[in-house]
Amino acid sequence: MANVFEDHIASVKDFPNKGITFRDITPILQDGKLFREATHQLAKYAKSRAADVIVGPEARGFIVGCPVATELGLGFVPARKPQKLPREVKRASYDLEYGSNILEMHKDAIKPGQRVVICDDLLATAGTLRACKELVEELGGELVGAAFYIELPDLKGKEKLPGLDVFSLVQYH
Ligand code: PRP
Ligand code: ADE
Repeated sequence: MANVFEDHIASVKDFPNKGITFRDITPILQDGKLFREATHQLAKYAKSRAADVIVGPEARGFIVGCPVATELGLGFVPARKPQKLPREVKRASYDLEYGSNILEMHKDAIKPGQRVVICDDLLATAGTLRACKELVEELGGELVGAAFYIELPDLKGKEKLPGLDVFSLVQYH
């Protein structure tokens, strides 16, 4: 059944490549009350996981994760595409539904034992999520959950991270 978030997600066929249906969250962001509600729901989830810190992958994970961190009064750690962070980094490479990439985090971004929730707009193949998990764990953090606006369950991303608690507002089959 459609929900209010789903009504504000645009589905664009054959973007960025033929055969991909791109799920565009910008209509949610454009609606202040809905953006706030999406943020509240992800923040409620992160609080339920007793998160100490929020990690967001570049670029849409910044948009989604930063307001969650500020709502909870937690720190935010960006996982960035290569050669953007100025100090010593850890690096992980990963595949996407439409390509491949590398993410980096500053080596001192997470304190040992910190409970981490990853926030992003969409879970597809989980390449991004797995790269973030690898980085979080290499830095000594514990990944206790992941929260998304959208999940594409048919791509079986969750199966690549057995045991990880995942929350999403909308699922597309
Ligand atoms: C998109 C999206 C997620 C990721 C999901 O990011 O924002 O981070 O793909 O796909 P996955 O589960 O198969 O890894 P993208 O790398 O396109 O970058 P962007 O946020 O800069 O657009
Ligand atoms: N990232 C990976 N797959 C995507 C999709 N289908 N729509 C939007 N972002 C994505």
